[in-house]
Amino acid sequence: MARILTGIQSSGKPHLGNILGAIKPSVQLSKDSDNQSLFFIADLHSLINIKDSKVRNENTLAVAASWIAMGFDYDKNYFYRQSKITEVCELAWYLNCFTPYPMLSNSHSFKDKSDNLSEINSGLFTYPVLMAADILLYDSDIVPVGKDQKQHLEITRDIAKSFNHNYGDTFIVPESKIDKNVQTIPGTDGRKMSKTYDNTIDIFADEKLLKKQIMTIVTDSKGLEDKKNPDSCNIFNIFKLIASESETEKMRKKYIEGGYGYGHAKTHLLNYILELYKDERKLFSELIKNQDHLYSILEKGEKKAKIIARKVLDRVRSKLGY
Ligand code: TRP
Repeated sequence: MARILTGIQSSGKPHLGNILGAIKPSVQLSKDSDNQSLFFIADLHSLINIKDSKVRNENTLAVAASWIAMGFDYDKNYFYRQSKITEVCELAWYLNCFTPYPMLSNSHSFKDKSDNLSEINSGLFTYPVLMAADILLYDSDIVPVGKDQKQHLEITRDIAKSFNHNYGDTFIVPESKIDKNVQTIPGTDGRKMSKTYDNTIDIFADEKLLKKQIMTIVTDSKGLEDKKNPDSCNIFNIFKLIASESETEKMRKKYIEGGYGYGHAKTHLLNYILELYKDERKLFSELIKNQDHLYSILEKGEKKAKIIARKVLDRVRSKLGY
């Protein structure tokens, strides 16, 4: 049996990029009966950016509702909020003391934002250590993540090895699992889909907002009659990630033939999403209306997760002589 663990930041309502890049492949993995899955909402990591508790909690609920709507079996597996298993903070401290400073100063998540050091907090700097604690606290074997998290997994492995080297086998050294097919999901402007860039497609948003987002997809200025290159078009590149092969080929042909405008392609993409995610959208909106139910699902998961966390942390404390 392999133990699979992954976390998703509660930095906003999950968008198509999160769904395709993280939630869907993880939910798929969790259906394998040989696996045991631990999925959690990284609501401690989100404190780095979100100080408003109301916003953070709303995001947490939206994340929980989306995973369930996408088919995650929370009864068979583990589903919890990172912040409720406080053991993770204690472990993060221990791991900090095994993390060489340059490993963090060289990490992309820090470097990308380090132009203006006075504007970032130390939480951002030690972010990868908390992430290592998330993973190591639960004896995880496999961690499915997006390509952008690959370096964090390498850091986790290095920290685990360093600890094991000092104190003998304590942690399982986890493997990352990066879905080769869906690596980076392009947003409406062609850059990586991200809330930071305001280029997301929110499949759980109401139809009006969803339509608005799709209509803002950036294209070149070719006219309706012109022949178009599908591979350099953001609409097509998003469509092909969710559509069947035959649907993708149909659209490709229309682009190449001409007489098919970007407006047509956008409308087609919108309708395709509405149909493809019809059931998930319905379930999501039912769940989000019943917060007590969502909280009780999470509390059940937290009770189970805590048992593993406690056991691993006790092992670490005893190795460290505390
Ligand atoms: N940093 C991850 C992200 O931005 C979220 C995350 C936090 C995570 N802890 C984790 C992912 C542990 C995998 C394992 O997507």
